[in-house]
Amino acid sequence: MKKIILVNGSPRKNGNTAELLKNAANGAKDAGADAAIINLYGLNFKGCTSCFFCKLKSKPHGTCAMKDDLSPVLEYVKAADAVIFGSPIYFMNLSAGMIAFFERLFFSNYIYSSEIPTVFPKKLPSAFFYTMNMNEDHWAQFNMAERVGMYEGTAERILGVAPKILHAFNTVQFKDYSKYESSIFDAEEKFAYREKNWAAQCKDAYKIGRDLVQ
Ligand SMILES: Cc1cc2nc3c(=O)[nH]c(=O)nc-3n(C[C@H](O)[C@H](O)[C@H](O)COP(=O)(O)O)c2cc1C
Repeated sequence: MKKIILVNGSPRKNGNTAELLKNAANGAKDAGADAAIINLYGLNFKGCTSCFFCKLKSKPHGTCAMKDDLSPVLEYVKAADAVIFGSPIYFMNLSAGMIAFFERLFFSNYIYSSEIPTVFPKKLPSAFFYTMNMNEDHWAQFNMAERVGMYEGTAERILGVAPKILHAFNTVQFKDYSKYESSIFDAEEKFAYREKNWAAQCKDAYKIGRDLVQ
């Protein structure tokens, strides 16, 4: 049975990112695969501490020497047939948890060699899901494709396949905007946007989950 790992880089286990990942997991399950969602913010782990164990000539490459809650997750990813990385956009970047995870996953499978682009043991299809407050115009205006493209490019180099991409713009952050200082948002417009677009975005997530394991 094929296996897909879905990594939630949001601290919210039932937020927008999680919901897209759950749809992708259902797509993969309906295609006959096993799907496991990993909530990074439920784990106790750090980003890379620059020990360089993974680059020692005397040691096997592709192994992160740090031992914490992320250690088994790095092994699950290696054993998986596909992986989806879901992150909210935080300060025009991925969440800190997702970046720390990437440091561990990608740096440990990278050696400083121009001949050997990756020591990851196989080609692993992947996808990036992004959720955010901003709309499509802001995404273009702030060169977001270029910013997050660094992570997508690294994933392609290390995992050997260009990732599929899903954007969910203009997400709803609060159930009740009136309870929060949030005057820059037009809550009504946000809920209307969600009403119009969210089901289709969940469907796209479902299809990506399904296609990645087929
Ligand atoms: C710390 C923090 C920083 C954020 N920064 C941005 C940002 O720079 N741009 C943006 O569009 N949304 C930003 N957001 C909004 C989230 O990206 C958005 O609400 C996202 O859909 C949340 O995902 P979740 O529901 O899975 O937690 C930020 C939210 C938080 C909590």
